[in-house]
Amino acid sequence: TTPLRLGIAGLGTVGTGVVKIVRQKANLLAARTGRPIQITAVSARTRDKDRGVSLTGYAWEDDPVKLATREDVDVFVELIGGADGSAKAAAEAALTAGKDVVTANKAMLALHGQELAELAEERGHVIRFEAAVAGGIPVVKALTEGLAGNEVTRVMGVMNGTCNYILTRMEDSGLPYEQVFEEANQLGYLEADPTLDVGGIDAGHKLALLSAIAYGTQVDFHAVELEGIQRISIEDIHTAARMGFKIKLLGVAQMTGRGLEQRMSPCLVPADSPLGQLQGGTNMVVLEGDAAGQIVLRGAGAGEGPTASAVMSDIVEIARGTRLTTFGQPAKHLEKAIPARTSAP
Ligand code: HSE
Repeated sequence: TTPLRLGIAGLGTVGTGVVKIVRQKANLLAARTGRPIQITAVSARTRDKDRGVSLTGYAWEDDPVKLATREDVDVFVELIGGADGSAKAAAEAALTAGKDVVTANKAMLALHGQELAELAEERGHVIRFEAAVAGGIPVVKALTEGLAGNEVTRVMGVMNGTCNYILTRMEDSGLPYEQVFEEANQLGYLEADPTLDVGGIDAGHKLALLSAIAYGTQVDFHAVELEGIQRISIEDIHTAARMGFKIKLLGVAQMTGRGLEQRMSPCLVPADSPLGQLQGGTNMVVLEGDAAGQIVLRGAGAGEGPTASAVMSDIVEIARGTRLTTFGQPAKHLEKAIPARTSAP
């Protein structure tokens, strides 16, 4: 049987986690897919660094574009991050060269997903992104496959673990926003640009991706009404608590008579509801389908194991030869949604 050969760009937390799973679970993966899954080449910013896993036997490339287009790579695994720059250049190069792409890059897909999906599908390939939304929670597959027979009526959720950590920590400690933000920073939870987290942008990227699948529309991050958690004071949290509520950075996407509503903003949720009880860095996604009813998924939204687990699910799907599309239907058939705004842009 022909092995599936991976080229992995980016060996940070997630990349390292993927290398570990491919090495340690070779037999399990081969049993589940019917073919060996192998890493042939890797690239990262720094070569000599102890990552706690051996890279022997893998070719090294300094340039991710070179890696993405190597003859001996079938699937380009993009774990560099960033909406543009080398991540996008390498993903485009891989798709143009006729490879499949697996990525955890929510920013790149939220901004360029349509274009990348069309590029992939023109060539009979795909770009898959389970790891881009809610880390270890298999929510992309729940929507594209699990709910394929439903009209999705609503997608909702807490999709940024850092914001949820900050809000629950404020609640538990009574400390003000600034101090808890600093704590989160010390703990290394914040993205390199913290505005991505606390400004709701990261969570907005994820919501835009889920909306595209749920409603069969082109991903449109700019249509997401965004409000972050920077202005939430400890007084707001106390007031909400007195009324039996918690404040969560909540995303909601639903198709209304006026068009597609996509909102990511701080919301009051009942303290005793599943969303209200969501602690720390956890994520929760609630999916509603006309046939299935309500489905609640909870799990780790970040971290080595959970995010690598999601990347592997895409790799396994490709190895099995499943006929896939990027957003659950051919990208060229996706239409632009009319955005329904609840407030002035
Ligand atoms: N900064 C993100 C979060 C990481 O806190 O959820 C995972 O996308």
